[in-house]
Amino acid sequence: MTDKLNNIPGYIDRLRGRNLHLNQQHPVGLVKLTVESWLGHGFEHFDRLDPVVSVAQNFDSLLIPPEHVCRRTSDTFWVDSDHVLRTHTSAHQAELLAGGHRQFLITGDCFRRDEIDARHYPVFHQIEGVRVGGSADDLLATVTGLMGFLFPDCESRVTDSYFPFTDPSWEIEILHEGRWIEVLGCGMVHKQILQNAVVEGPAWAFGVGLERLAMILFGIPDIRLMWSEDPRFSGQWIGLHAGFDPKQAPKFQPWSVFPATTRDVTFWVPEADIDPVITINNVAGIVREIDLGGLVESVEMVDQFRHPKTGRVSMSFRIQYRSWERTLVNGEINEIQTEIRSRLNGDGYVLR
Ligand code: PHE
Repeated sequence: MTDKLNNIPGYIDRLRGRNLHLNQQHPVGLVKLTVESWLGHGFEHFDRLDPVVSVAQNFDSLLIPPEHVCRRTSDTFWVDSDHVLRTHTSAHQAELLAGGHRQFLITGDCFRRDEIDARHYPVFHQIEGVRVGGSADDLLATVTGLMGFLFPDCESRVTDSYFPFTDPSWEIEILHEGRWIEVLGCGMVHKQILQNAVVEGPAWAFGVGLERLAMILFGIPDIRLMWSEDPRFSGQWIGLHAGFDPKQAPKFQPWSVFPATTRDVTFWVPEADIDPVITINNVAGIVREIDLGGLVESVEMVDQFRHPKTGRVSMSFRIQYRSWERTLVNGEINEIQTEIRSRLNGDGYVLR
């Protein structure tokens, strides 16, 4: 693990063993069980596949082009030049098809460098369904049926989408608290993938984030809570079991919500990072590595401008701190903030 490309911080390694999807007393594990039992028998279950996968599995086998942005170190955790932490459960699709499996579910932890807000965490869980012999109508009936079962009181809609590995492709969105939220990607498995796996088509596939579903189903407002070991969180799901009726899903009971504190940081961006997505993911990555107690609730770019004379680009980020457990004191926020500033500085961001 001394590879120069390796960009996996220690805290990610520590989260890898948690396997929330295998915990049947946890919202993530409960949603997995619910999806599995709704789909019924006939699907093989793979939920212990190693999240360290080859570049071929995660990208090439899915026809993701070599220059695609999702391969960048700003987006993906690289183990070495041939391996990544899977960014989606689709990484196992082609191999399982080639291995003769015809109808299966893959569940596991997935890893992405991303922004920081209530819905994003660098480790999350997906469940993937694949059915050889299923038509497009069968796919859409299956995924809209599943959404209707999980969220009987929410409107949902199907929109056209794009994935390199399915054609055609769709996304399912759920209307939740007045906003359309993407919850599921799906489509007909690309002919080339079927050919490579020596499978007679058609075949469909879908992939869905378990945290997203669990947040809507149980009314959980912040994805960081999924990792909480506070009994005020974990104690709320005890006694639920596979096959519970989603209509009867208990709603998350917040204990008092403590106040948030924000701090801004402004810097000149190094030339190589001018793309805002790279900077957003880099800043988020730095914050995650320093904020091991998970006190940062969101990181938002609030301002960006190019100096008219020098052409240099300046960006301002707002970091919001809040704990679910207690009121934070200024001293501890200052400490994290100082660390973030010095790390940014060391990485070539010139603080203003
Ligand atoms: N792998 C896709 C994602 O993570 C979801 C997907 C799975 C889309 C299967 C189509 C088919 O966004």
